Amino acid sequence: AEVVIVGSADEAGELGAELVQRLVAARPDAVLGLATGSTPLPLWQALIRRRLDLSRVRGFALDEYIGLPTGHPESYRAVIAREVVEPLGLTPELVRVPGDDGGPLELAGAAYERAIAEAGGVDLQVLGIGRTGHIGFNEPGSSLASTTRVKTLTEQTRVDNARFFPSLDEVPRHCLTQGLGTILRARHLLLFAFGEAKASAIAGAVEGPVTASLPGSAIQLHPLVTVIVDEAAASQLR
Ligand code: F6R
Repeated sequence: AEVVIVGSADEAGELGAELVQRLVAARPDAVLGLATGSTPLPLWQALIRRRLDLSRVRGFALDEYIGLPTGHPESYRAVIAREVVEPLGLTPELVRVPGDDGGPLELAGAAYERAIAEAGGVDLQVLGIGRTGHIGFNEPGSSLASTTRVKTLTEQTRVDNARFFPSLDEVPRHCLTQGLGTILRARHLLLFAFGEAKASAIAGAVEGPVTASLPGSAIQLHPLVTVIVDEAAASQLR
């Protein structure tokens, strides 16, 4: 992986926005893989400032909670509409979230894989990383070849995401997530991490052994990875 250590999350967002801008200039209907959570926000902010025409860009979210009522403001479908699609001017019909076809859960994974394949695959996959080392919601133990499927969130991830909910009890326990195999099929991976809390996961992902125990380490199997981190998240790199 190419590791870029930046002075601030804003600087990271600008670097990421440069990659997106170049991609979309070459391919106006590029396919973006979308992460949620706090980490990609500086990228979305930087893209908003550039006022690009992203109306033909297609998007695939990494993951979605299971069990929230339709339209719940913390469902990733709602989060992506609010934080990405509306402010960046993407076309809502061109942005998909796992399970959004409303079919049975056990078919949702295969349907999502088909939709990604029919779009020609993901050009640029934006990633954050969890303290457990997850990318998407592929928690430790996820097969390196996994595809989109139902997973159980770890207690640590539920605690980390409780900041978005009134109480821990309301954080869903299950999700649909792209697999590590799905993520590895994207043509370019763009992983961001900010803050001390991510330092150990970043060291494992970038320098540790490739292992299902730290799913982010799967990025080492990919030929084109850009890791953009601040000093704190880089602090355990050798
Ligand atoms: C979100 C996702 C997760 C997050 C990770 C980091 O779609 O797939 O892997 O990227 O949990 O979350 P934040 O950025 O909130 O620290």
